[in-house]
Amino acid sequence: MYERELAATAKAMVAPSKGLLAADESYSTANKRFEKLGIPTTAEMRQAYRELLFTTPGIGDFLSGVILFDETIRQSTQDGTPFTKVLLDAGIIPGIKLDAGAEALAKAPGETVTQGLDGLRDRIAEYYKMGARFAKWRAVIKIGDNMPSDRCLKTNAHALARYAALCQEGGLVPIVEPEVLMDGDHTLERSYAVHHEVLKTVFDELYIQGVEPDQMILKPSMVISGEKSPQQASVEDVARWTVKCLLERVPAAIPGCAFLSGGQSGELATAHLNAMHVLFKDQLPWQLTFSYSRALQQSAMQIWNGQDANVAAAQKEFYHRAKLNSAAALGQYQPEMEKIA
Ligand code: 13P
Repeated sequence: MYERELAATAKAMVAPSKGLLAADESYSTANKRFEKLGIPTTAEMRQAYRELLFTTPGIGDFLSGVILFDETIRQSTQDGTPFTKVLLDAGIIPGIKLDAGAEALAKAPGETVTQGLDGLRDRIAEYYKMGARFAKWRAVIKIGDNMPSDRCLKTNAHALARYAALCQEGGLVPIVEPEVLMDGDHTLERSYAVHHEVLKTVFDELYIQGVEPDQMILKPSMVISGEKSPQQASVEDVARWTVKCLLERVPAAIPGCAFLSGGQSGELATAHLNAMHVLFKDQLPWQLTFSYSRALQQSAMQIWNGQDANVAAAQKEFYHRAKLNSAAALGQYQPEMEKIA
């Protein structure tokens, strides 16, 4: 019923030079980031912070969509304009986080399975009415001794695929996000092998559940060295191994992949995306762009620090990071651009 609308939305989400802002941090994640900076963890402060992001002048030039959290999709600006309207007026598609977080997976010590399938059909209908046109579900895969287990991969892939099928049935483009964490001391090669297996398992399940590839977006992690690995791969190697893995495992029929940043610094996440475009220009069957939370927000949040007086400066920083990532999504980013505020 929604096929045409879904395919058009998915294409628009990864339009050249545009990417997504993940602003769907749950209460606990948002509060943790505020606590680190000494910002009060109240609904008012979360509203003020998200208003800062969404009302940044000109931000629609670089963002195709914003992923919202349940609390946020129901909020408005101080002057009473619903956030969904603010985004639509800026040419930005509102989306919604649908997963309910990861919980311990039975008989798989240290691993998790993402929750949220119960009642999902009704929640999708409600968010569609509220203006959301796409959704996100994040599965978490850890690399370690005996991890990831087959059980963890299959269970998470199955849940992702059932979520994605329900989304398409209800008119939301599913963002399918199997995040392989960069925690640990693993090598780039190990990260590649795990990503390979994860993507194979996920696309097999998506096929079984009848998910249409042209009506979804993949949100992958990058193939990267573990953050504690003594051997940190170069920007070019991360770009090469990431694209190699995607070319081997991601059907050409999907419109695009929009990366998570996963704890990389803002500058590194931008440099990695840029290198993929520079090295693989004209060889990519899908769009490659960003769907960052921390790599777009962390410097702006630090500048804001909960103070009204810092809003304009924080918006300037957020605009700057979004602009540089937009350039990276075209392979046109230069490190010198970091200095031009
Ligand atoms: P990070 O870019 O901070 O990894 O967050 C992206 C995201 O949406 C995680 O689900």
